[in-house]
Amino acid sequence: MTTQRTARTLHLAARPHGFPTPDLFTVHEAPVPEPAPGTAVVENLYLSVDPYHREAMDDGGWALGVPLEGRALGRVTASRAPGFAEGDLVLHREGWRTHAVVEPGEGRVRKVPAYDGVPLTAYLSILGGTGLTAYVALTRTLEFRAGQDLFVSAAAGGVGTAVGRIARLLGAGRVVGSAGSPAKVAWLTGELGFDAAFDYHDGPVGELLAKTAPGGIDAYVDNVGGDHLEGAISVLREHGRIAWVGAISQYHSAHEPPAAPRNLFDIVEKSLRLEGVMVRNYGDVQQELEDFLVPHLQSGAVVPDVTVVDGFERTVEGFLGMLRGGNTGKMLIRVAD
Ligand SMILES: NC(=O)c1ccc[n+]([C@@H]2O[C@H](COP(=O)([O-])OP(=O)(O)OC[C@H]3O[C@@H](n4cnc5c(N)ncnc54)[C@H](OP(=O)(O)O)[C@@H]3O)[C@@H](O)[C@H]2O)c1
Repeated sequence: MTTQRTARTLHLAARPHGFPTPDLFTVHEAPVPEPAPGTAVVENLYLSVDPYHREAMDDGGWALGVPLEGRALGRVTASRAPGFAEGDLVLHREGWRTHAVVEPGEGRVRKVPAYDGVPLTAYLSILGGTGLTAYVALTRTLEFRAGQDLFVSAAAGGVGTAVGRIARLLGAGRVVGSAGSPAKVAWLTGELGFDAAFDYHDGPVGELLAKTAPGGIDAYVDNVGGDHLEGAISVLREHGRIAWVGAISQYHSAHEPPAAPRNLFDIVEKSLRLEGVMVRNYGDVQQELEDFLVPHLQSGAVVPDVTVVDGFERTVEGFLGMLRGGNTGKMLIRVAD
């Protein structure tokens, strides 16, 4: 059953210089499409807005003047695709729009697994690409073991909160994090159970981290890059490991060489290991993530950490808000109930 007659899509009209502005995006309306043979029409319920979308706004990323892509969760409203029926909930990549035409079999759409008692928002946060990034960074890249001490940057965000929660389940020793406000620091050490946290605006990151983790750390999940990476290199113990997931401190100045880290040779001096993480290389770990986390979600021991912005018309506001740190947990847009 289609609940709306007009479909809206967001396009990128021009590329940003520095921090993006709302006028770079335009909204387009058209009748809700009918499914062609082999396809299904999906009414989107939730959209994911992500830091990689900022990178996609630059040259070589998104094309201008076409509907944008992003992860989304929606309900099938009409189907001529085998195996997909009206009412099915699906995950797909046709975000930044109210309605999508999906073609099963292309690897870009799958049914939402039917786990009782798991909130829908989990599938675009801790059970989605965000949680998978955290899980593979810990279990594959860091080969994280019980008792080890961990630092994670952008700790109050989507990947950061998932890292904190999963590390606890893996038996972490001390878990410390950085975030961009005193409220986030309090939330991390209160609700999220971090042992300590700091606001990276309060001074040089290396000094703040050294005070927060006076005994050093064994492992670091880097969401931020730059001075955070430099600080972690300086505080890591010998044979420590870094899973480099993202560099959000640098996404608005991609053409400028970063000022930090300036201590890369310490990687040699301390026999550290630094490895990049790309979640798209770990699709085969998705089922393992679900087997690991779903019982904890069902028992309530783990909850999806999300900030939900209501209304398709507020998608760009939510996206820019996430880039500014307006979210705790994963930033999602609720398009429909
Ligand atoms: N490699 C992969 O496969 C992969 C997959 C998913 C995500 N990622 C990366 O993981 C990181 C986190 O992604 P996410 O989706 O979970 O986003 P997120 O952490 O939920 O949101 C971004 C956060 O970045 C922080 N931030 C913004 N500017 C910053 C700056 N200059 N310095 C330090 N922190 C800053 C903000 O929090 P504060 O208020 O704390 O500043 C904001 O909440 C990003 O770097 C992203 O690109 C990589």
